[in-house]
Amino acid sequence: MADYAGPIAVLVVDDEEPIRTALKKYLVQQQFEVYTAGTGDEALNELRRHRIALMLSDIRMPGTSGVDLVPQAIEVEPDLAILMLTALNDATSAALCMQRGAMDYLTKPIELADLGRAVQRALRRREMQLENRHLNQWLKEEVTTRTAELQRERMRLERISTATLEALVNALEAKDPYLRGHSARVADLSATVGAEFGLPDDQVEQVRIAARLHDIGKIGTREAVMNKQGPLSPEEYEHVKQHVIIGSQILAPLVHLGPISAYVRGHHERWDGSGYPDGLAGEAIPVGARVIGAAEVYDALSTSRPYQDKLTPEEAVKRMAELSGTVLDPKVYAALNAVVGRRHTLVFLDDGTASSV
Ligand SMILES: [Fe+2]
Repeated sequence: MADYAGPIAVLVVDDEEPIRTALKKYLVQQQFEVYTAGTGDEALNELRRHRIALMLSDIRMPGTSGVDLVPQAIEVEPDLAILMLTALNDATSAALCMQRGAMDYLTKPIELADLGRAVQRALRRREMQLENRHLNQWLKEEVTTRTAELQRERMRLERISTATLEALVNALEAKDPYLRGHSARVADLSATVGAEFGLPDDQVEQVRIAARLHDIGKIGTREAVMNKQGPLSPEEYEHVKQHVIIGSQILAPLVHLGPISAYVRGHHERWDGSGYPDGLAGEAIPVGARVIGAAEVYDALSTSRPYQDKLTPEEAVKRMAELSGTVLDPKVYAALNAVVGRRHTLVFLDDGTASSV
């Protein structure tokens, strides 16, 4: 046996001493290490003391019967092979023992040669069971390890794809002094507002990533329109509006981003349904898009733009109050108001860092 260095240990359980002695003598001849017990309790003690491979047990015994001994013995030694010895007229008890985990039974009087074969059969079965269990265990560990490796690799690729897109946004914004750091600031504010709004942590993270990437579609906006100082023509405005569709199309194939592409697509929707590209209204607008939309308005008001002087946080929030219920989800506005209120001792600089005043 694979798990035994020495001879295989067998336990003989019978209340009749002459039977114990005869069985022991035969099994010793067969090169087994043999222990004996006269009662069920003694048998359990022997099982606790030695690593026993096979138990040969009588059914009719005073005290614990063989039928009751079987489950108790298996509890002490789960790998134990059990053979029952039964009287001719006791097939019912023998069947009960099999049900409870015994492998086989022999009817008394026993032919020693039959006993030898039954013991070998039971030990072979036990060995196969042990091998199967080891194999299953190994397979389980192997599957767990491989799954963890795949998971790590997948997460690494996901991080790389998001980081690549963020680099693209940075490159896009770097060209425009007014936009520099815009997405990073909107991402920071959106995540804080999302948390204040009561979104769960994983959704807050999705909002943060979506906000970081919300204007990635501007990669498809013509340079002349991007850099235009002054009002846009209707055609140019239609062209700019395409950035939410292009953005969501860029992100759509990245299935691991989940709702992020919908957040990007919806960040110019308005609470009253007058936004674009789908004219969604109210809670039909994905919540992440509502949050990013509000954070973007705040950022536009509170940073310098070619067409306006920047407002203080208090002024920006006050101006936004007029948009609550039309452009902005009132609950999202309330969350943003609370967040900015808490931050009133901080000024967010154009490069996205904060400093105390
Ligand atoms: Fe946008």
